[in-house]
Parts: sequence; C-alpha cells; structure tokens
Amino acid sequence: MKGTLSASVSSSSGVLFALSVGVLDGGALRVQMREENPIGNLYQVANVVLENVELKSKPFKLVQSSSEYTAIAFNSTDIEHTLAIHHRPFRMDLSSRNTPIWTFNEHGYLHYEHQRLKDSPPPTDGSEPAQSNDETLSEDEKTKKQLLEEIKKDMWDESFSGKIDSKPKGPTSIGFDMNFPGFKHTYGLPQHASSYSLKPTRGSEAQYSEPYRLYNFDVFEYELDNPMALYGSVPFLMAHRKDYSVGVLWMNAAEMWVDVERKAGRGSSPALQMQDYVPFSTISQTSATSTTTHWMAESGSIDVLILLGPTPAAVSDQLTRFSGRPALPQLFAIGYHQCRWNYLDEQDVADVDANFDQFDIPYDVLWLDIEHTDGKRYFTWDKVKFPNPADMQNDLAVKGRKMVTIIDPHLKQDDGYPVSKKAKDLGLLVKNSGGSDFDGWCWPGSSFWIDYLNPEGRKFWAEQFKYTNYQGSTPSLYTWNDMNEPSVFNGPEITMPKDNLHHGGFEHREVHNIYGALQHRATAEGHLVRSDNTDRPFVLSRAFFIGTQKYGAIWTGDNTATWDHLAVSVPMLLTIGGSGITFCGADVGGFFGNPDTDLLVRWYQMAAFQPFFRAHAHIDTKRREPWLFGEPFTSTIREAIRRRYRILPYLYTLFWESNQNGAPVMRSIMHEFPEDENTFEIEDAFMLGSALLIHPVVAKDVTSVSVYLPPSAVWYNYNTFARISNTASPVQVETPLDVIPIFLKGGSILPRRDRVRRAAGLGVHDPYTLVIALDKAGSAKGKLYVDDGKSYRHETHGESIVADLEFQGGVLSSTSRAWFEKRGAADGKVVTDQATVLESLGNRVERLVILGMKASGVKSVVVKKAGETAGKRLEFSEEEVVLEGVDEGSAKQTVVIVKDPKVLIGEEWSIVLS
Ligand code: NOJ
Repeated sequence: MKGTLSASVSSSSGVLFALSVGVLDGGALRVQMREENPIGNLYQVANVVLENVELKSKPFKLVQSSSEYTAIAFNSTDIEHTLAIHHRPFRMDLSSRNTPIWTFNEHGYLHYEHQRLKDSPPPTDGSEPAQSNDETLSEDEKTKKQLLEEIKKDMWDESFSGKIDSKPKGPTSIGFDMNFPGFKHTYGLPQHASSYSLKPTRGSEAQYSEPYRLYNFDVFEYELDNPMALYGSVPFLMAHRKDYSVGVLWMNAAEMWVDVERKAGRGSSPALQMQDYVPFSTISQTSATSTTTHWMAESGSIDVLILLGPTPAAVSDQLTRFSGRPALPQLFAIGYHQCRWNYLDEQDVADVDANFDQFDIPYDVLWLDIEHTDGKRYFTWDKVKFPNPADMQNDLAVKGRKMVTIIDPHLKQDDGYPVSKKAKDLGLLVKNSGGSDFDGWCWPGSSFWIDYLNPEGRKFWAEQFKYTNYQGSTPSLYTWNDMNEPSVFNGPEITMPKDNLHHGGFEHREVHNIYGALQHRATAEGHLVRSDNTDRPFVLSRAFFIGTQKYGAIWTGDNTATWDHLAVSVPMLLTIGGSGITFCGADVGGFFGNPDTDLLVRWYQMAAFQPFFRAHAHIDTKRREPWLFGEPFTSTIREAIRRRYRILPYLYTLFWESNQNGAPVMRSIMHEFPEDENTFEIEDAFMLGSALLIHPVVAKDVTSVSVYLPPSAVWYNYNTFARISNTASPVQVETPLDVIPIFLKGGSILPRRDRVRRAAGLGVHDPYTLVIALDKAGSAKGKLYVDDGKSYRHETHGESIVADLEFQGGVLSSTSRAWFEKRGAADGKVVTDQATVLESLGNRVERLVILGMKASGVKSVVVKKAGETAGKRLEFSEEEVVLEGVDEGSAKQTVVIVKDPKVLIGEEWSIVLS
C-alpha cells in the first residue's frame, strides 16, 4: 500500500511474517504483523472495528535508509514525528517534538508462535536438544527431552475442569512489548475492578501478581482491586505525562494478558540512539520514570494503532475516529431507569409506575428481567403474568415513558420455539469443534447460540425485533442484552469452549471478545429495522469490546451493595469511558445484597452523574424503590434524581459532543487538567463534561471530604453558588447525608431546565436557565445542542441547533449562525429551513444566573436581537448566596439574576450588562 513500509520478517524457525507500518490521516500509526502462510484463515478484527472508517495514509519523508535502520518523518496533528526502525534486532522508536513517546520491542519480548498441525516440528529457540538418538543423550538431556514432550502434549490438548481444548492450530500465541519513555501513568485496559491509573503488575513496584486479563466473562461476585477479567474488554491503553498523551489499541479479540511495569529512567535511551541517524538534535528530558507494557494474546495477529495524541482529548478523538463514534442516544435513555430482577407482573409494573408519580420522582424507563418471558424464551411473554404486554407499554408511553425487556443470546433448544428452530434450520448457530450445533447450558437449560460473526446470523437476529415477529412489542420497547460474553453455565470458565467454530471457520478463541459486541450490534440493527431507520436504538449490553460505543450503552455487571463497590464504580467508569464507551454506568444500589439506606442514598447521589443511570437488584434482594425508606431518605433520593433531570440539556449536549469527537461524558479530572500532575491519580472525584466536578461520598459516616480543585481555574460551589476563594490546598467540604460536593468551573455556561417533569421527553418545550460561572477574566463559554431527542432528522434533514454561548466584557451573546451554515442533509434529503427548525426546537431562556459578578456594579441590562437597533431593558436582581460548609473566605457572595430575557436558543442575540 502507498504510504506504508513493508517487510518480511523471519522467525528463528524460518516462519515468515508480513510486517507493515503506515501513517494514517487522523493521528495514528498502524503496525501490522501476521503470519504469511497460516494453516487457517486469520480473523481480522480490524475488518469490523474499522468498518466504515475512511483510511487515508499520510505521506511521510524517508530520512534514513540503510541496512541497519529505516527512519521516517511525518507531521501529525501539526506535530513533527519521527519513527526509527532498527532492523536487527527489530525495534521501533517513535518520537514526537524530538522527545521519545513510544517504543516497540525495546525489551525483545516480540514472540509469535505460529499456527501448526500436531505432527509438525515445534518452533526452536535454540534451547531444545538437537534431534538425536536417545543413546547419545546424557541423563539430563533425556529428562529435558521427556519434559518437553510432556509439555508439547499438554500444549495441544489442554484440559480445564475436565474439558479438553483440542487446539487444532496448535498452541499459538503472540507477545510484544510497547514502552512509554518518561511516562509514569497509564490508563485503560477495561474491564477490571481496579484503579484508574493502572497499577504495575511486574517489577519492584508491582501491586498485582498477575497481568491484567482481557477475556469476557460472566463473573459471580467479582473481587475488587484485582486484574481478573470481567464482562468486557477493550485492548486500549493511554500513557500520559504532563506534556503528552499517547494511546495504543490492539485490534485483537483473543484472550489477552497485559503486564504493566514502571522503570526508573527512560528505558535504554531510544532517543539518544535515534540521534545517530535522525536529523534532530535536542531531546528534551522527561520524567525519570518510564512504563513498559507487555502484551500477550493467544491467537490472531498484530494489528496495533498508535494514537498520537498529544492530549487525552486528542487520544479520545483518535480512538473513536477509528473505532467508531459513540452513537447519540435518545433523550429518554439519559434519564433515570428503574430495574429489578424482576417486576412480577403487569400490576406490579403499574404500581411501581404510579408510585413514581405519587412521590413526584421523575423516571423514564421501566425494565423487565428474564422472568417476564415464557420459560426464558426471549421475544416472548409469560402469558399469565404479562397477558397484555402492548397495553402495559402503552400505559407507560402515554406518560412519555418507555420499557426495556431483556433479550439474551442463548436460545432454548425447543422446536416449538420459532426463533431457536429457525436459527437452527437456517444453519446460523455456533458449532462445536466437531461441526455440530453447539449445545450448552444457560437460563433456559439446553441452549443454542446464534453466530453473530455470520452476517446472516446478525440479519436473522435483527429481524426478530420487527413488530410482526416480536409479538407484544411496541415502538416504546427497547432492549437489554445480558449474558453475552457469552455465559455458558457448563462451559470452561462459564463460557464457550475455545475450539467452538464460527462462520468463516474461525475458532471461538480468535473471536471470543468480539462475540457479545456483535450481538449488541445486531440488536441495534434490529431496532433500526423495525423502525425503518427512523428511531435511534437503545440497547444495553453487558459484554463489550472495541467499538461497542457505536451500538449503545454498557453497564459494569453484577456489583454488590457495599461501599467499596460504590467507590470502585468511579475508576471503572472513568476507564471504560476513556476507552471509547462513553455511555456507561454501574447498577445503583449494588446488584447483590441489600444496601443500607445511607449507602443507597449516596449511590443515587453519585450515579445521577454517571452517563447511564439505572437502579437494579438481584431477585433475592428486598425491594428498594426510592420511596420505600421514609423521610428524609425518599426526599434525598428524589432530589438526587431531580438534580440530574435539571441538567439534562447540558448532559444531552455532552452526549452530542461525545458523538462528534469521542469526549468521555464522565471524565477524569486529569482529562480536563492534563498538565496538573496532582490530578493524575484522582479517582474519588470526576468531571461531568468540562463544567462540573463531582466528589461523591463513597464511605460510611463521612462527615466531610477533602476536594482537590485544580488551582488554574476558578471554582464555585454548585450547591450554593458561592465562589471558592482559596484552592491552593484541597478544600474541606461538609457532607451531611443530603449534600454531595459539586463544583462548577469558572469559565463555563451550564444550560439547565429547572422545571422537572415526570419524564425527560415531557420537558422538551420548557425554557432554559443558563448558569454562567465567570473565570478570572470575567468570561465564560458554553454550548447547547438541541434536536428532537429521538430520530435521525438531525442527520437526514439538518434539524438541530447548536447555540454557541459566550459571556465577555459584560455581554452574553448567543449565536447559531456557524451551525446553521454548516449543517447538511444526508441521503439526498433537503435541509429543513432555519425558521422551521427554530419553530420546533428553539426554546426560550427564562433566567440567567451569573456567578462571579458584583451586582452592585450593574446599572442596566439590555437585550439586543439581530436586526433590531434598539435594545429592550430587562429586569435583574442581586441575590445573596447562602454559604454552606465551604471555606469561601469572608467576602460577601452575590449572584446576578436576569429574569425572562425574552430570547430563544437558536436565535442571534446579546444581553449587555452595564
Ligand atoms: C445477570 C445480569 O448481570 C443481571 O443484571 C440480571 O439481573 C441477571 N443476569 C438475570 O437476568
């Protein structure tokens, strides 16, 4: 391929591997290495991950080419990069702005055990005794030979809990090291119940004794602070230091292990080595700690994207440019979801729904778990408990609410169950190693699994969601895909045998981690099929993989009702969100066990700021709907949920931004303040977008918390609007049960809807409040994105508004001109004219709240609209801020309130305070 360096690499046993290195437009380097003549097809994960991505190679300059080295220089994200390839031993060194940022095979861990048949000779590394007649061997050599024979045998037919893995292509494996010189911190590699900044697993600082394992599993009561594999995997890691962020993504779906090791110094000075042949001279010094990562997968090939940064935001953009942008959810999907295993029947559903209204608590979706089905046959209903499912859904829908039913991937083996029977007859099932339909156990007993690797399998699955197929489903019904790791109760480690076979002849071992994501994808496609591509899908999945964000949301699986589980949900979600899957959440209250009331309250307070906000509980737990705990608890939970509903305009805008550039909705403080080293390990607080900093209370009886507010910004207590005067040291905040510390960053404009309705969709015509928090210079900025919250008309007809809001020099201005000019229409459709869009989507602003301004200095407030010469005077007032438990200093705090400024979002206007 043009713009690619290619080479053939030979292993010590003479097996040939094709190597290619290319620079991609959009900020990435791609390194591929695969066996030239494998005995079977190699599964190309990239074909799915990079589907629909325009891959354009970027030109580079050859700056050195000798028998020893090849070096190229290229520009990416306006930064000069150099890649030096050392031929023998093979090694690559990448530098950016003359500073080394990434090396490959610096430690010589590159290892590629090729595919081979059982009777073919094993690869040699020189340590095996040469073939010889046993009589000539010493005793030691004989023992060694015997041992090797034993090992070789085990390497073929591996047995696990009495189950044999036949390994028809031999004991394959791939390993290599990637190193980040001068980078102490690395992040990513979900899913683990572990810290945000990855803990070293090797070397003197090792905190775990095993590498991080990536192999999607159904885990019962998972352990915390552990590198064990959980339900989802994204082989993505980002290294970050004060001046640079760089990401790596290995497109491989096999079982994987990653070791992380911190080392003093900057490795073996790759940069200095490069100076010999690269025409750059000054290599700036970086932190004296480096991180080495050792990646090992059971099979597949090497296909790695190096995402060139240079900031965390740029890495998120690059990651989702290549692996797919997060789908824009419907507005209802970002409201509150009420789930439990199980709501018993239609009466129970009606009662729960009615209680939300009686207790004045907003919610959007009621969920039904596996017990709603006819004998765990998905797409069916228990006829006794749910005789009128369509009426039940419609009763919710008239209140603007939705329902979700669970649809798992295992299909009950039953010829009377059409989904299972047809899938079998059409040959769409996963096969066992002998080529027959794989038979395993799950909830319904003996089950089959659709092969989602097969496009026909996905198509068949998608069609099951048509209203004519899924009897009793209506347009307000959405889907939950659980158990899709896949969970197989009688399989090795509760999943599928690795030698099961998929479409294309691929063994399960090669595709395991992508399987669930492909079910997720087929389900989302099903929602599109049933609505003729008009209704945005909502599908929650438990298993996930690279690119899951294209299909919907995920949750962190079966957590437990303990404080530790509440605490770990923050780093877990930061990691998942930073790995591209920005729509994620943890079950509120903890799935297993019964939370104490204070734990439940604290959980709601925190989770109201998670991207996906759902309460869920195990079938054996006590009921715990928000009104069951009496006062003041019900009110505190109500307020936590209402707090989320008020900021839905802001949150929806964040989801839209995420859809544009992959920015995590819930993100680390480091992501927002990448130059502030104090933020690199913060995982007990987080940001929602760039405006709100939340420090949840995640331990029992905590009466105050210490909050680090990066001193480069001005901060306001969001609960009281008081300005924090001194952020040089952490701020101590009192935390009675009804308080969760939330801070608003100066320089932000936060759009809210202060009237809270029963469900998100019912408020779409309500006016906005703009909370304007001024920075040191007395300025602030914000955005507000609006569309119909459900369809694709924003894409097909350009029916959306992006209002750019800016406060500067006492003037608040709003413009959407740039947006209206650049918006387009898809599929040859016509862009809806601006007046019509404004008519349906342009709501008025009912209030401005300006923080950080002395009201005494304001004499008049005047609004001016485009095309009007004279402005209109507006009413304004000054309000004193209630000071609550924050060290604001002695200065009197006031906010300026401007009531009913008579402006619409989407129009051009300015409001002048003078
Ligand atoms: C396991 C899921 O993780 C849990 O959320 C669900 O309630 C049960 N399966 C039953 O479907």
